[in-house]
Amino acid sequence: MIRTRITDLFGVKYPIIQGGMIWVSGWRLAAAVAKAGAVGLIGAGSMMPELLREHIRKIKKEDPQGAWGVNLPIFFQYAEEMVSIILEEGVKIVFTSGGSPKKYTHRLKEQGIKVAHVTATPDLAVKCEEAGVDAVVVEGFEAGGHNGRDELTTMVLVPQAVDAVKIPVIAAGGIYDGRGMAAALAMGAEGVQIGTRFAATIESSAHDHFKKAMLHASPTDTFLILRKLIPARVIKNTWFERVFEAEKQGATEEELLRIIGEKRTKIGMFDGDLEEGELQIGQAVGAIRDLPSAGALVLDIARDCENILRGGVFR
Ligand SMILES: Cc1cc2nc3c(=O)[nH]c(=O)nc-3n(C[C@H](O)[C@H](O)[C@H](O)COP(=O)(O)O)c2cc1C
Repeated sequence: MIRTRITDLFGVKYPIIQGGMIWVSGWRLAAAVAKAGAVGLIGAGSMMPELLREHIRKIKKEDPQGAWGVNLPIFFQYAEEMVSIILEEGVKIVFTSGGSPKKYTHRLKEQGIKVAHVTATPDLAVKCEEAGVDAVVVEGFEAGGHNGRDELTTMVLVPQAVDAVKIPVIAAGGIYDGRGMAAALAMGAEGVQIGTRFAATIESSAHDHFKKAMLHASPTDTFLILRKLIPARVIKNTWFERVFEAEKQGATEEELLRIIGEKRTKIGMFDGDLEEGELQIGQAVGAIRDLPSAGALVLDIARDCENILRGGVFR
């Protein structure tokens, strides 16, 4: 049993958060994680507002008391409408990311919602604390999805963020098993947010082609691109090569936007085009060799972490 301020805050058995992931974490994945005793997040960043409402209603029906919530990227064009839906539907947990934590924290907390914000430097963790969030997620640049520009790794980021704030810190980036979780807790984090490893589970809505590609990937198959726009860690493929070459040639933001084109993340992660789509994933992908259920994964990670912290060994 690992009790921290994060397990108390969210009323969960394990201080594990399944990170919100565009095209990957719908209500099925979030519900499976919540039922296993951790926090499951619906990734709102790839949904139209009414689709988010549908996902919230489905998960409410499936697991009315569970520790599930919504991840809301603040820069998303529908963020404002989504906040209204979150309030109307009585969501109890919100993880914001990609923008100022000041923007929605007060409004959400006024309604009794537990709020965490995702950030990538110790200084920004302090800003989250000042904005009044209940917890801060600090994400190292090993992570999948959008990323900080400063390239801080989880190993240096977590202890410095822990020293910089009083609120509980959740570590993210490169954590995929009990060893990583135990290391994060040893550095003072009180919870872990895991994305990549949960993308390769039965309940993840990633396309099967994408899931299969994860099973064969090595840790060097990802790269951080689009630093001029919003940095993203992706699997190297044909589309990536085009963007990478353009960046090397000094392409402007407008040129990059043209090369990226429309709906790249959907084409890759949801429709399964492994060459022409944008496949966001973290360096942890190199360790994925199976597609378990999300619930079994939570239990495995928590059990191994507990054994290590008790002085046992990792099998
Ligand atoms: C496919 C994918 C999509 C993601 N989408 C989002 C998102 O919409 N919003 C967000 O805050 N983080 C997003 N992330 C980041 C995760 O929530 C999480 O913080 C991160 O994956 C943790 O690092 P890891 O990938 O090494 O486990 C995404 C990550 C992945 C792999």
